[in-house]
Amino acid sequence: MSKKQAIVSPSLLSANFLRLEEDVRLINQSEADWLHIDVMDGVFVPNISFGFPILEAIRPIIEKPLDVHLMIVEPMKFVRELAALKVDTMNVHYEVSPHLHRSIGAIKDAGMKAAVTLNPHVPVELLVDVLADLDMVLLMSVNPGFGGQKFIPQTIDKVQRLRRMIDERGLSTLIEVDGGVNVSTGAALVEAGADVLVAGSYVFSHEDPKAAIRSLKALSRP
Ligand code: DX5
Ligand code: ZN
Repeated sequence: MSKKQAIVSPSLLSANFLRLEEDVRLINQSEADWLHIDVMDGVFVPNISFGFPILEAIRPIIEKPLDVHLMIVEPMKFVRELAALKVDTMNVHYEVSPHLHRSIGAIKDAGMKAAVTLNPHVPVELLVDVLADLDMVLLMSVNPGFGGQKFIPQTIDKVQRLRRMIDERGLSTLIEVDGGVNVSTGAALVEAGADVLVAGSYVFSHEDPKAAIRSLKALSRP
C-alpha cells in the first residue's frame, strides 16, 4: 500500500533576514515541497513581518511553489498582486472573511489555489458549506503573529475532525498545520490526518536545516 508522505512548507519568517538569499537557496536545494510566506499587518495580528517589496525582490530566486499566509485584515485587496507574483496558494483567514464564498471564487479566478486559515479557537465545522470549493484548509496550531511558539495540543483533535469531514465527502482538500511544528508534533499531526506541515523555527534553528526538512518529509500515514 502506498504511504502518503507529508508535504513540507518551511516558513521564511524564521530565516535570517540578513542573508535571505542564502536561506531561500537553502530551501531550493532541500527536500521541501513549498515555501511558506507569512505576511502580517500589525492589525489582524500583533506583529508586522514583510510585504510586497521583499517578496518581489526574492521572487526570482524562489524555486518552490509559494504558499502565502496572509495575516492581514483585508486580504482580498491583494489578489492581483499575489497572482502577479505567481503565488501557488493564497491563504486568507476565516476571521476576516465575511464573504468567504466570494473570496474563494476570486482567488481561483485569479489562477491561484484557494485556502482558508482558522485561528485556534475556530471550529472546523464552520467550513462545512465551503469545504468542496477549497483546495486547502490551514489550521493554526498557535495564535498567529510570531514564530517559535508552543504547539496547541487541541489541534490534533481538529485535524481528526476535519480529516473525517473531508474523507466522508470524498474530497481532496488538503489539511495544512502551522505553528510549533517539529518532528514530534509533526508525527502526531500526520497520524491525525494532516497533509502539509509548516515549520519555521524547527527548520531554521536546526543546526542542519536540510536534515530538519528531511525529518519532516519522512513522516507519512497509510
Ligand atoms: C505564525 C506564522 C507561522 C510561523 C511558524 O503566525 O503563521 O508560519 O512562521 O513558526 P514556528 O514553526 O516557529 O511555530
Ligand atoms: Zn504561517
